[in-house]
Amino acid sequence: MEILRHIVVLIHLVGFAVLFGAWVVEAVGGKRQITRLMNWGLAIAGLAGLILAAPWGIEGEINYIKIGVKLVILVIIGALLGIGAGRQRKSGSVPPALFWSIGVLTLANAAIALLWR
Ligand code: HEM
Repeated sequence: MEILRHIVVLIHLVGFAVLFGAWVVEAVGGKRQITRLMNWGLAIAGLAGLILAAPWGIEGEINYIKIGVKLVILVIIGALLGIGAGRQRKSGSVPPALFWSIGVLTLANAAIALLWR
């Protein structure tokens, strides 16, 4: 059970890497646009995160407040990706505040996972 949980954590991290990596590519020298890879990363991290939110394969308590905050942030990132993609379709570009918020919130979710004990 424990090894299975670690595999799901690994999948969760792959989702994070895909989302954040795709965003960094756009942020550093890219067109600062929303790409399909970002949606995939969010979906993978979100699905694996929900599986990890259930208490299996670990001893001790799960911090549900922390998980709740991460879930809210995930939903906000999803909304920003949706709104950004819509704006991009209409005007060809994503408002900078919206684009940067996606990266900052993604990093915030990783920081919450690691620093909030
Ligand atoms: C953009 C969204 C997200 C990002 C970037 C993210 C990132 C991370 C990272 C970097 C870790 C650290 C793994 C480790 O302990 O080494 C982690 C762990 C975890 N995440 Fe997320 N996460 C996201 C969304 C979610 C969501 C939506 C949930 C639940 C609803 C969730 C639940 C968890 C749980 C339970 C762990 C701890 C795994 C464990 O140690 O058993 N995450 N996340």
